[in-house]
Amino acid sequence: MMPTESENKRFSFSTVIVLAVLLLVVLLTSVPYLVSIALAEGGAAADASPIFGVTIPPGYKQWELIAPAEEAAPLDELRAVVGNQIAIEAYQAGKLPFPDGTILVKRAWKRKQSPEFASATIPGAATTVQVMVKDSKKYASTGGWGFGRFANGKPVDEAQHRTCWGCHEARAKSRDYVFTRLAP
Ligand code: HEC
Repeated sequence: MMPTESENKRFSFSTVIVLAVLLLVVLLTSVPYLVSIALAEGGAAADASPIFGVTIPPGYKQWELIAPAEEAAPLDELRAVVGNQIAIEAYQAGKLPFPDGTILVKRAWKRKQSPEFASATIPGAATTVQVMVKDSKKYASTGGWGFGRFANGKPVDEAQHRTCWGCHEARAKSRDYVFTRLAP
């Protein structure tokens, strides 16, 4: 016997419900998977420094200046060290060692002659971004500091990252391994 029209309607209505629930289940179960793919590709892993897993902190171009610096040839660069709020407060209070959460970023540029004024030197192309992150537990074996050097937004190789701690440890030990002083 053929189903009546109302039975037909009920059948298709419940089919729609079942399909909708199935679709919802599929979507919900795939969300964690999609998120993990996005994180692995877009963020952390690929853009983190070897050894330390340090990444370029978002918004660092808006951070406050600690001091500018110049590097002689062969690098021949202009530099500026900036810090997050924790860093700036520690500097202003003269606090050593720096507290956990401190982030210092050294920006660097090739020198360029001002097109308007010959004796003025201005920043040319950006060369590297260097980062130090304070986490006294995670980086206990390197004075509490994690290091990252980035060129074009990508971390440089592991060999370069092996040099960071040695130089900072040898020459800036009495200042919590940080060279830069707050500019007067
Ligand atoms: C041969 C010595 C040497 C090595 C190796 C070295 N640095 Fe430095 N670093 C310095 C000196 C000197 C300064 C301060 C002068 C300046 O800003 O150029 C400095 C400054 C910094 C600063 C600003 C905070 C501070 O200590 O003044 C950061 C961030 C930094 N370095 C990161 C790194 C990273 C990351 C590496 C490894 C990839 C590294 N450094 C390797 C000598 C070194």
